[in-house]
Amino acid sequence: MSQLNGRVALVTGGSRGIGAAIATRLAEDGADVALTYRAGKDKAEEVAARIERTGRRALTIQADSSDPDAVTEAVERAVRELGRLDILVNNAGVFPHGPIEEVSPAERDEVIAVHVTAAFAAAQAASRHLGEGGRIISIGSNLGLRVPFPGLALYAMTKSALDGLTKALARELGPRGITANVVHPGSTESDMNPPDGPSADAQRAVSALGHFGTPADVAATVSLLAGPDGRMITGAALLVDGGTNA
Ligand SMILES: NC(=O)c1ccc[n+]([C@@H]2O[C@H](COP(=O)([O-])OP(=O)(O)OC[C@H]3O[C@@H](n4cnc5c(N)ncnc54)[C@H](OP(=O)(O)O)[C@@H]3O)[C@@H](O)[C@H]2O)c1
Repeated sequence: MSQLNGRVALVTGGSRGIGAAIATRLAEDGADVALTYRAGKDKAEEVAARIERTGRRALTIQADSSDPDAVTEAVERAVRELGRLDILVNNAGVFPHGPIEEVSPAERDEVIAVHVTAAFAAAQAASRHLGEGGRIISIGSNLGLRVPFPGLALYAMTKSALDGLTKALARELGPRGITANVVHPGSTESDMNPPDGPSADAQRAVSALGHFGTPADVAATVSLLAGPDGRMITGAALLVDGGTNA
């Protein structure tokens, strides 16, 4: 496919899991791709090698999303080194869970920084560079919309913030031909959520399809939003959760 030929994408948290699948898929679609990571240098370089095997350029950037200045600089570096920016994917994330009484102030602030402040900072920096056809796609969670299990206050609160950000960005950037959307995965096989993990059976039990999705399932929806066929989709929240929230 070549629907993204000539385009440049930045994927935060592109070293593993869903972000790695998105980075690879956008390259298969024709885009040059920058990806950030926090600690997974080797994994990030493996993803970069996969991107380069598709014939596209890759750029790995160590940038901790808990530091908004690092996120802003990652956007600027992608533009400097790859020449432009067309697609921002806010994907980097963590999965805090447990009783609210046990959440420390440091953990609270870090998760807000990674899920909320980083997405805002990246969108702000990207909006200075995106042109007609630009895309801002954030990876939320179906748990930001409905919460079927206890222990998820911090995760659900920070993921639901992406819906407000997305709608506001869609309104503000729409006149420039830029779309903004949020993709809400459900249970998806990754290091964060292995299909043989302790809560995996409970997750399958609340899914309409009864099984986990793969990172490629989420990447396919991001591909649709990023490409020309996504041009009329903006301000939307798309569930890729096997019907868990149905
Ligand atoms: N898996 C699911 O069931 C599921 C469901 C709904 C939503 N999501 C969301 O999907 C996104 C990706 O999740 P995943 O399942 O692919 O998780 P994962 O396998 O744990 O991968 C997380 C990715 O984010 C990066 N990351 C984490 N903290 C970071 C930080 N502070 N700065 C920069 N990068 C950071 C990691 O980089 P390093 O390699 O450097 O650590 C890694 O590339 C997250 O936003 C998550 O909340 C996942």
